[in-house]
Amino acid sequence: MTDRDPSPPGHHGARLSFQGRMAYGDYLSLDPILSAQHPLSGAHDEMLFIIQYQTSELWMKLALHELGAAREAIAAGRLHESFKMLARVARIMEQLNSAWDVLRTMTPSEYQQFRPMLGESSGFQSWQYRMIEFVAGNRNPALIGPHAHRPELAAALRDELARPSLYAVVLGRLAEAGFDVAPAADVAAPTRPDPAARAAWGAVYADPQRYWSLYELAEKLVDFEDYFRRWRFNHLTTVERIIGFKRGTGGTAGVDYLRRMLDVVLFPDLWDLRSAL
Ligand code: HEM
Repeated sequence: MTDRDPSPPGHHGARLSFQGRMAYGDYLSLDPILSAQHPLSGAHDEMLFIIQYQTSELWMKLALHELGAAREAIAAGRLHESFKMLARVARIMEQLNSAWDVLRTMTPSEYQQFRPMLGESSGFQSWQYRMIEFVAGNRNPALIGPHAHRPELAAALRDELARPSLYAVVLGRLAEAGFDVAPAADVAAPTRPDPAARAAWGAVYADPQRYWSLYELAEKLVDFEDYFRRWRFNHLTTVERIIGFKRGTGGTAGVDYLRRMLDVVLFPDLWDLRSAL
């Protein structure tokens, strides 16, 4: 036998018996994850649909993990640490954006075979998506409503509205650097354009060398929002391609509602300042 002969993995040192030991599937809890797909119809494409949502929710879970830690790092002045996490969040959004290409392989006819099985369930009721928006600063307490029947989820969303948003914490850094800015008095309110913060960002962008960390932080936020916008747009286009202008299962007008959501701006000051540079 030569070195080039295919040989069993055991010959390379791989363990082949896991009796009483932790194996891959144990560590990753693969049994519950891989047995959590329950199509309600016999339609072939329902599996794609379920896995698309489930994987999106897993990536959202990681995005929340990173955003929460980034917010803490920013509040503590550890900006470099936050840059790594925010860069990762942007990459996660990119991953979610590519995922639409898989879903787009489903035609309207294929979707119609199982759409009635969804009842009134819709991504609109994704509490993790709402949490990402709340953390970023797009805060609308009315959207906790769909979770009232799950008190622990509603409480988690309400608790988030009692914390300063990611952007509010970033404004704290501007104040710390000597700019005359103050976080909004009502932490539960959505981020609104703030002339003082806008002026401070104008100064940062006018002299990046002097304010490099704040400049880099601002660009990380813009990156995140840029990818988030692409997600919204890809969702909208995929939805129009698959259901046209039908009402959503969640009860909204569907594409018209999603089109309106394209106008949501997470960090208005950071976009406004660009016109004045
Ligand atoms: C066939 C595929 C899909 C269709 C036809 C669809 C359709 C819709 C529609 C019509 C809405 C508006 C709310 C409603 O009335 O239901 C919506 C909202 C939403 N969908 Fe989808 N969707 C699809 C796939 C996905 C996937 C894979 C995700 C990933 C988690 C997702 C996440 C969301 C979220 C988070 C919202 C709320 C958006 C907001 O409030 O700004 N959707 N979807």
